[in-house]
Amino acid sequence: MTANTDGEGVPYYEISRDGQVLIAPSQLGFLFTDADPMRRNFALSGVERGSADARWEQPWGERRFVTDRHNAMTVTFREKGGAQRSLAVQFRVFDDGVGFRYDFPENTNGGLVNIAEELTEFVVAPKGTAWWIQGGDWNRYEYLYQKTDIGSVSTAHTPITMRLDDGTHLSFHEAALVDYAGYWFKRFDGQRFRTHLSPSSRGPKVVRRGGFVTPWRAIRIADSAAGLVESDLELNLNEPNRLGDISSWFRPQKYIGIWWGMIRGDWTWAQGPRHGATTARAKQYIDFAARHGFAGVLIEGWNIGWDGNWFGNGREYSFTQPYPDFDLEQVAAYARSRGVQLVGHHETGGNIANYEKQLDDALALYDRLNVRVVKTGYVADAGGIIACNADAADPCRGEVFEWHDGQRQVQHHLRVVEAAARHRIAINPHEPVKDTGLRRTYPSWVAREGARGQEYNAWSRFGNGPDHDPTLVYTRMLAGPMDYTPGVLSLVGDRGMPFSSTLAKQLGLYLAIYSPIQMAADFIENLEAHPRELAFIKQVPADWEDSRLVAGEVGDYAIFARKDRNSADWYVGGVNDATRRDVTVQFAFLDPRRTYEATVFKDAPGATYENESRHTIAYETITLRAGDTRTFELAPGGGLAIRLTPERR
Ligand code: NOJ
Ligand code: CA
Repeated sequence: MTANTDGEGVPYYEISRDGQVLIAPSQLGFLFTDADPMRRNFALSGVERGSADARWEQPWGERRFVTDRHNAMTVTFREKGGAQRSLAVQFRVFDDGVGFRYDFPENTNGGLVNIAEELTEFVVAPKGTAWWIQGGDWNRYEYLYQKTDIGSVSTAHTPITMRLDDGTHLSFHEAALVDYAGYWFKRFDGQRFRTHLSPSSRGPKVVRRGGFVTPWRAIRIADSAAGLVESDLELNLNEPNRLGDISSWFRPQKYIGIWWGMIRGDWTWAQGPRHGATTARAKQYIDFAARHGFAGVLIEGWNIGWDGNWFGNGREYSFTQPYPDFDLEQVAAYARSRGVQLVGHHETGGNIANYEKQLDDALALYDRLNVRVVKTGYVADAGGIIACNADAADPCRGEVFEWHDGQRQVQHHLRVVEAAARHRIAINPHEPVKDTGLRRTYPSWVAREGARGQEYNAWSRFGNGPDHDPTLVYTRMLAGPMDYTPGVLSLVGDRGMPFSSTLAKQLGLYLAIYSPIQMAADFIENLEAHPRELAFIKQVPADWEDSRLVAGEVGDYAIFARKDRNSADWYVGGVNDATRRDVTVQFAFLDPRRTYEATVFKDAPGATYENESRHTIAYETITLRAGDTRTFELAPGGGLAIRLTPERR
């Protein structure tokens, strides 16, 4: 990685690897709403170097230990005339990628920094293919991925994934998005991209006091799809844990919920004859969870505010007042008596003004009732987040509209996570801002949505389509855990809408899409109707000692091997796209001193997502040892799930 200034004093960086230029000279800089641009007329005025070689432990995750080995360089550019402002850029180069961020000294612009735009470029030199979703469009991050030439990307969210023609894999993203606007990856010409910050109602997209650092701009670089998936680049670029040991109140877990019935349309969040969250149903779900060892029961639509059109209208929500047919105190007491925890729910309709007013009371209530995980929600079109206008006489009447990834919403998410942590409550936001590895610093920020989840399978024929899951693995999942809500074993959505998934794929999702809170999303009757699959879901961990992608290509298929953190068991499996294929797995990772009994859940011969055969599944029990090789057939829209347990000696 090289940094310098060009003939006009424009700061730039450049990246090459093994003699090949990956990122051609790419400019660095800023525009402000109240000061001259930082764009040209700079000179390199200082370089400091450093390095690190460390290992740190995750409280939960895809792997227990993470290696942080990098070279560091801080480059200072100074303006040659005018105010002689300085712009410092911190670079870190790892084996699996690079990160860099800007460091604004305290005296920048006399203290207040009003950023109109960040001018960080990414000029991708080689040709290749990109997988991406559009940024700045109405449905936030909930799009099917596009696969195009790199030169045909328009404005994309990050992470955006690329495979260069020589097989090198890249992913552009950011790390530690704190008190700043998220950026969109915007193409200007050819393969020249630039940060486009998410807008703000204030004019400047970012408002800060001097003496701050921006989020890291992160580029994963790997030889293979596996290298891309196994990289911990963004985690390494985040600050260490600030919350200390949270294991007394948050542990990785699986949960069920009064949820799928509303998504399908059988029940309602609103009051009325089909209201989902009734006291009686809550007790029924708690009983099921207790019987089958699920730690949590999510209950949505328990509180006042859902009647009428709640989409993008959070003005009515109460986060403390239950509906009359839902006795919150009684349900919480019942859960406690059965050794089950409720998973709380705060849908804001995107109105953070209303939510922030009630936040402390809402969290205190859940804390008193021993709720330790809360799912939050921000259902509103992009750009439709309602915040207080701090300048208005009555700030919470003076509404302003913000983006889901604008600075105001970035601040809001962290405010909620920090307030919740004070109540020993973990947070799982839906319609969130993208994940940038902040779980390292705030391990109670356990998961989020931020992509099309399983719920879309309920809403249209073949829903997400068979390619979506094996694309998510290499795109959205590079950002961090996702509350995808697997385990819809019935494979039908609203009005019988068929899923683009076989039964085995629903199990494979638990291995392909990581979250420390994994849902079994179907109605409890449907879970119970599949006792063997339910047994697998009960066993599969949500916390791993190690995870490796053992077979897979971007957008095609993804098979992981994951080792349980709390036993000697291994799990192998994942998801396929629409193409029938044979995958060969080498069980090289197993302990060579042991023999394993492998319980295999695989697609039945001839199964396909395209017709009723998607419900068919085959079971097999085989013996495996380290170094064994086996080939498995994946159906169109299929999947695979294997549990490997060492035989007792
Ligand atoms: C959308 C979320 O993704 C879904 O899980 C939730 O049930 C609804 N919003 C209501 O909050
Ligand atoms: Ca959603």
